[in-house]
Amino acid sequence: MATCQVKSIAGAANRTHVIRLLEPGDFDSGFLETLNSLRETGLTADEAVQILDNRLPNIRTYVLLEDGQVAATATLMVEQKFIHRGGIVGHIEDVATRPDKRGRGLARRLLEHVIEEARAAGCYKVILDCSAEVEPFYERIGFRQAGRCMRVDL
Ligand SMILES: CC(C)(COP(=O)(O)OP(=O)(O)OC[C@H]1O[C@@H](n2cnc3c(N)ncnc32)[C@H](O)[C@@H]1OP(=O)(O)O)[C@@H](O)C(=O)NCCC(=O)NCCS
Repeated sequence: MATCQVKSIAGAANRTHVIRLLEPGDFDSGFLETLNSLRETGLTADEAVQILDNRLPNIRTYVLLEDGQVAATATLMVEQKFIHRGGIVGHIEDVATRPDKRGRGLARRLLEHVIEEARAAGCYKVILDCSAEVEPFYERIGFRQAGRCMRVDL
């Protein structure tokens, strides 16, 4: 999958931005710190490499690098359904921007890229679950409320 050089992010004129799929080296370059700001992973870099190795190919974690360090991340799961005549749905998970990098459009830029990747993978929609506090963030990016989230704890 192609690496995307990000041309312009507001307020970040002199910085280099790249969006690409997560690589094992990112576990020593800010990925875990970024995700820890969503929820503490408690993982070592070696444990994270094992998880990346075990993953199915339709689970894709993207990173936005700022000057070579991970500044934001999002995961896309691509699911081909039996209903909707085999239609493909994208599920977005684990969106986070490092606390010191927030408010500069990084998550927006990353999610716009992930949505385009979902389109390229044939998805007819992209869905996610989130808390009420971050609904306005997703609405700014173009999501709308649809359905409700349910869970059972195991
Ligand atoms: C939510 C989060 C990913 C936003 O990242 P960010 O890089 O600061 O977001 P951006 O700067 O790209 O913001 C994009 C737009 O959303 C708005 N926005 C950002 N956070 C917002 C919030 N909490 N509430 C309302 N609007 C918000 C921005 O003002 C911006 O609007 P604009 O482009 O119209 O000016 C980040 O705050 C974060 O990591 N939070 C902790 C983890 C989390 O809750 N993740 C979501 C899991 S579902």
